[in-house]
Amino acid sequence: MRRGLIAALLLALLGTALGETRMMVVTDIHYMAPSLYADSGLFLRALRAGDGKYTQQSDALMEALCAAVRAESPDALIVTGDLSFNGERASHEALAGYFARIEAAGVPVWVLPGNHDINVTAARGFRGEEWYATDPVTPAQFSAIYADFMRPAEGANLSYTAEVSDALWVPMVDAAFYEGGAQSFGVFLSAHREWLESVTARAGARTLVTASHHNLLAQTEFARDTFVMLGSDALLQFDRDHGVRLHLSGHIHAQHIAEAGGVTDAATGAFCTWPHRYALVTLSDDGALTYAARVLEGDQLPEGFLEESRAWTEAIHRDKIAAYLEGIPERDDMADYAARFNLAYFAGTYRPDDPAWREDAAYALWRSHADNPFWQYLGMVMEEPAGDNLRRVLPAG
Ligand SMILES: [Fe+2]
Repeated sequence: MRRGLIAALLLALLGTALGETRMMVVTDIHYMAPSLYADSGLFLRALRAGDGKYTQQSDALMEALCAAVRAESPDALIVTGDLSFNGERASHEALAGYFARIEAAGVPVWVLPGNHDINVTAARGFRGEEWYATDPVTPAQFSAIYADFMRPAEGANLSYTAEVSDALWVPMVDAAFYEGGAQSFGVFLSAHREWLESVTARAGARTLVTASHHNLLAQTEFARDTFVMLGSDALLQFDRDHGVRLHLSGHIHAQHIAEAGGVTDAATGAFCTWPHRYALVTLSDDGALTYAARVLEGDQLPEGFLEESRAWTEAIHRDKIAAYLEGIPERDDMADYAARFNLAYFAGTYRPDDPAWREDAAYALWRSHADNPFWQYLGMVMEEPAGDNLRRVLPAG
């Protein structure tokens, strides 16, 4: 009797677990093989002048991602593009080694290329104070390197369907444009639409979540041109027509969520930049979809890593902003404030309804320099409507 009860309870628990699909999502890894820059001061200076990527710690980050995948134990890891720093073949090959380890631990990996992955003619390696051209990859070479982490192309470019579980499929929309050389923009073509229609027919009653590198919706006013894929209206219409509630993207490097006409585009923050985000998407057995952004835990990283990573990116923001404030006596305070804001904004934790930002003395200083070109950006994004950029629950339709 007692044994029967325990068995029934176990079955009930197992039933719940089996009815749920959990995916980890990561984007903009921008992995750089250490063999391409070992001990190069030039490379570090180029990074320091860049946009805040912590690429010099690519391997520590990938080790931490492997640990996070083991801890989360999802049904799949979805990677929405910008796998490599800037298209280097050696970076792709080394990164595929990490994905092989994740698959060996029992978690299928599904990848998409971004705008920094295929036919990047500016792929470079660094040695000391010199840089040199290094091999990029063609679409065929990309497919060969990641053959275990993609399906053969079904539609336009390298688009294919990630059959994550019996309940959930993810059409991986390759809208990157790399014919004749990588471009930063993406394009959704009629061929993508035709392919997606055929996926829908095969998927039957399964839940679909679409994914691409470029954004489906404008996440913010400053991230419209080259961030939202051209032809996005057709993908939005497809999603609406077929009850697709959630789209996954990256590319803007900020953690941000937008919604239009019942479709949510969740742009996961770049993994290569503090706070090193990933996301967990859960399809519950009642049909609800939950998107939740997460960060790497400190115990998955070397001691002090997150503090150093944050300081690295904050200093890059501060120096860039200070360049807009030449000759202003309060330059340091204003640059410190705006750098702190940028970190919070890209981490997806800035809330316009948090009074602390406007009570800060540096806010009044910025407002008194309303003609400053950096304020054109800062003033605009600070006024964005309040919204949760970390988590959304999308009930069954
Ligand atoms: Fe990127």
